[in-house]
Amino acid sequence: MNVVTVSELAQHVGQDVELKGWVYNTRSVGKIWFLILRDGTGILQCVVVKDETDDDSFTLEQDLNQEDSVTVTGTVREEPRALGGFELGVCTINVVSHVADEYPISHKDHGTDFLMSNRHLWLRSKRQHAIMRVRHQTIKAIRDFFDNNGFTLIDSPIFTGNAVENTTTLFELDYFERQAYLTQSGQLYQEAGAMAFGKSYCFGPTFRAEKSKTRRHLTEFWMVEPEMAYCDLDGNMDWAEKLVVYIIDAVLNNCQNELKVLERDITKLEAVVPPFPRITYDEAAKILKEHRDGFEYGKDLGGTDETVLSDRFEKPVMIHRWPADIKAFYMKRDEDEPELALGVDMLAPEGYGEIVGGGQREDDLEELVKRIRYHDLPLKPFQWYLDLRKYGSVPHSGFGLGLERTVGWICGTKHIRETIPFPRTMTRLEP
Ligand code: 4AD
Ligand code: MG
Repeated sequence: MNVVTVSELAQHVGQDVELKGWVYNTRSVGKIWFLILRDGTGILQCVVVKDETDDDSFTLEQDLNQEDSVTVTGTVREEPRALGGFELGVCTINVVSHVADEYPISHKDHGTDFLMSNRHLWLRSKRQHAIMRVRHQTIKAIRDFFDNNGFTLIDSPIFTGNAVENTTTLFELDYFERQAYLTQSGQLYQEAGAMAFGKSYCFGPTFRAEKSKTRRHLTEFWMVEPEMAYCDLDGNMDWAEKLVVYIIDAVLNNCQNELKVLERDITKLEAVVPPFPRITYDEAAKILKEHRDGFEYGKDLGGTDETVLSDRFEKPVMIHRWPADIKAFYMKRDEDEPELALGVDMLAPEGYGEIVGGGQREDDLEELVKRIRYHDLPLKPFQWYLDLRKYGSVPHSGFGLGLERTVGWICGTKHIRETIPFPRTMTRLEP
């Protein structure tokens, strides 16, 4: 018999097939009962009727529990009233394994902490399933975008000898005779990549010892980081805008069912078309002064500031030209206003806040050495990085897009911990 998945049923209407999965639920209606089967690709209503199903299988109803693993044979029928538009007229049900205890996650409400502690099981539920599929589609779109636009994938290392971002968020570890850090960003290596390949990117896990317990922070998160030679800040913003438009398009085209499960208002996503507004930090500060008590010019934006700003735009907004003192050592200064750094943050709408951070890099050797000293960083681990300014330095730019923040916005989740299979936060290392 033909073994098929729920997602393939449209091609098998009228055929006898076998499906392999798990019991999602059971339900009786008079003399027939329904086995709701999930197989990882979808959910299927299987109809069990006395004279059509073999006797042993028919009497199974009372013995089946949520998450028992089962294989089922039967005939595929079109059924517009059923979820997904198909149902199975059951011939046989074969139990592969009965659950040992009652399945901890029933169909009623549970608290998030309990669900997170059962994350390894929670991934089977409809909503989590939908979020992971959107995450998968987002990753695919990101890769396709860069691969189709002439970028070469250059993986950055995870063990590093130096900080990239703020030194207070470094995870330090013993590395033979010395100390090493888990990377905060693959950027510096992409700068080497861009000088070798013109355009390069990396896409992998990055680490921050964030002591904040906000809905936007993980200690381990995924970031895609493109870097382009001969590219200035404006060109950088063009790339960031194109990438985000491409991702949203791909999710809208391929994840309609998932977005429905998530009850996402897709008109909000459909509004994400170019061009995105671009405002300076000064302009953003003016808005914040007007709409938020206690905002101080020159300060970095906090979560609430980002929410206030991103609530005011229907599309992602890019904020550029930041006070240099609050940005990283590698940022190039604005020629006309040297107290400003050529950095850019992109804030997602609907209050989601920063999803992209990047900018034009300092390409002058002496300036860069000055910055490293000014930021009180040791020069030695940066020798290789300084070489990039000694040998054929050019204007170049890049950015990092946080995967979980992006997926959180697309799915409309409250907290980004739902957007990564096994989240790592200050208080969570298991499962
Ligand atoms: O703004 P960030 O710190 O920028 C960089 O790391 C640059 N070196 C990137 C580059 O230019 N190549 O981080 C970039 C993005 C943020 O906009 C956010 O989306 C995400 O990474 N991010 C986090 N996501 C989840 N949890 C955290 N703790 C995050 N910190 C940053
Ligand atoms: Mg940032």
